[in-house]
Amino acid sequence: MASSSLSVVLILCLAAAALAQLSTTFYNKSCPLALEKIQNSAATAVKNDRRMAASLLRMHFHDCFVQGCDASVLLNETSVGGNERGAFGKVGSLRGFEVIEQIKKDVEAVCGPVVSCVDILAVAAPNNRACVGGPSWEVKLGRRDSTTASVTQANQNLPVPFLGVAGLNASFVSKGFNLTDMVALSGAHTIGRAQCQNFRGRHYNESNINTTYATKLKLNCPSPATNLAPLDDDTAVAPNPELFNNDYFINLQSKKGLLHSDQVLYNATAAGCATKDIIKSLGRLL
Ligand code: HEM
Repeated sequence: MASSSLSVVLILCLAAAALAQLSTTFYNKSCPLALEKIQNSAATAVKNDRRMAASLLRMHFHDCFVQGCDASVLLNETSVGGNERGAFGKVGSLRGFEVIEQIKKDVEAVCGPVVSCVDILAVAAPNNRACVGGPSWEVKLGRRDSTTASVTQANQNLPVPFLGVAGLNASFVSKGFNLTDMVALSGAHTIGRAQCQNFRGRHYNESNINTTYATKLKLNCPSPATNLAPLDDDTAVAPNPELFNNDYFINLQSKKGLLHSDQVLYNATAAGCATKDIIKSLGRLL
């Protein structure tokens, strides 16, 4: 798998969210052990629960898409602006809050409260290589935690799985990402799980789905809504949906995207033609 090429795209995409003044050496004086502590604690959590690699990555994405990367996703219902976890379609779906809390405690035990939660999340999210493979990237640090959240912005800014290409694109463009960024970032769906309620409409009602795959999904997902399926189905090349690789892009080409919003990236017409070509090229990088 050419994770290096994919990782370059991912690194560039996520780096774009970073602001000036941030630095990879931000904690070198105030907490020299910060990175090591965060990475070790995150790795322990992922070793105990491999899906946690996916869950932390998704939490980082949700954090950065609402008010910028500021840890607002971690605030609870008593915060000003509400609880972003309560946004449309997101209730009970984000995971890993207790992991970030534990890492924060581990870091505070050596340095006190100098390391922000947003930096902890930004370092923990890509720190999965040892367990699930795929890219990792150096993170510029020094972000500040927000004291307010915005459930309104979470509802407006976070893409939902029922969108078409135009809606998805609008969501990413509003954050400064282009089509290539959007497709590459969607490749994060090479790991992790989705709940039945978020994809059931697809294998019962849509035609652009591989029939064997649809039959398999129906077995586990006529109900209940919270049953899970891997976002990235097994392939002959790498029969392991827990591994971070480019199978997601290969699967889309045989109509095996789990979410509607995944599959439309390949099957769309007009503006979506470009996304099809991007998927083909990312799917070739083995
Ligand atoms: C393109 C727009 C996107 C949509 C509509 C979307 C939607 C979703 C949905 C519905 C789920 C399943 C949630 C559940 O059923 O509980 C999910 C899971 C996930 N998403 Fe996305 N997503 C998008 C983009 C992204 C991006 C940009 C990333 C990261 C860079 C990402 C990372 C993940 C991961 C890793 C999971 C699995 C989480 C787990 O297993 O805990 N997604 N996404």
